[in-house]
Amino acid sequence: MHILVTGGAGYIGSHTCIALIEAGHTVVVVDDFSNSHPEALKRVETICETSVPLYQGDVGSRALLEQIFSEHNIDGVIHFAGSKAVGESVEKPMLYYRNNVTASQVLIETMQHAGVHTLVFSSSATVYGDPHSVPIAEDFPVGATNPYGRSKLVVEQIMQDQAVANSAFNAIILRYFNPVGAHASGKIGEDPNGIPNNLMPFIAQVAVGKRSELSIFGGDYPTKDGTGVRDYIHVCDLAEGHAKALETLHGKPGAHIFNLGTGAGVSVLDMVKAYARVSQRPIPYQIVARRPGDVAQCYASPDHAKTVLGWQAVRSLDDMVASSWRWQSSNPHGYREA
Ligand code: UFG
Repeated sequence: MHILVTGGAGYIGSHTCIALIEAGHTVVVVDDFSNSHPEALKRVETICETSVPLYQGDVGSRALLEQIFSEHNIDGVIHFAGSKAVGESVEKPMLYYRNNVTASQVLIETMQHAGVHTLVFSSSATVYGDPHSVPIAEDFPVGATNPYGRSKLVVEQIMQDQAVANSAFNAIILRYFNPVGAHASGKIGEDPNGIPNNLMPFIAQVAVGKRSELSIFGGDYPTKDGTGVRDYIHVCDLAEGHAKALETLHGKPGAHIFNLGTGAGVSVLDMVKAYARVSQRPIPYQIVARRPGDVAQCYASPDHAKTVLGWQAVRSLDDMVASSWRWQSSNPHGYREA
């Protein structure tokens, strides 16, 4: 298939380009580099020994999308482009609704006009809010607690409405748990701007000596060691899940929702210990107050994806940590060095 990947230079987007190319597909990328670097795509081209056509610009630009659909015979779209920081979304909700909701609407309208019917959307476990129990299945109640989460939920609902109205439309909604790790080559990985919000890139920067210590947000949760529990999934497993979803569901209209997680809960302290062991670097930490909005535990039931897509995460926690460390230690300043 010939796939348009929006946000294809980003963390998950770049790994997914590789998974698609390795599965025999061709990709076209649109990215405005607002939270990504062109070097990531160059490295994808090096790793895959192929060229990837790039359109630099905003996915909310109807003219740009029309140009892409007229210049390429696109079979389906994977839509990663968007803003993703929870705290920023509280401060700038309109930015989040424009980048995440309005742009997605423009994309869906342009797809319909161009006769492209398959859309894979990058959603998040955040749509489950504070789950009543774990593991979380796809039919659990949804409800977001911040503008970022609401923007994901609204796009999910827009896609489901479109699947009702347009009997050809194929809405594939993938709810990611916590993507971590990097490509085995160590050439591409997560490269956050400024101070990382997320645990894994923060630990990686402590291990490489860029930051002095990790603050662990809360040591009094009702979990096995008091720290928050999440379902960390290797970004390459996640990327392969996208290829599987497209291959299995292309040509099967309707709305399809899947959790992409491992089903295993890992605590913050488990992750710190694994990183220190694998990197052989100390990870100094201090337990501080809980971070507002965090839940105690969040992990997936991955059964639906396994049954319908024949996909499951296969990489271990040590693979996640070792690949993160390979990327971080060989690119201590991310893509900026390049
Ligand atoms: N944590 C720390 N210290 C840090 C960063 C995180 O202790 O410096 C802890 C958190 O409290 C949590 C765990 O590490 O227990 C994971 O935190 P992340 O920020 O890495 O991930 P979240 O589960 O909070 O966030 C993820 C996605 C978001 C999504 C959010 C809400 O990254 O996009 O889930 O479900 F919105």
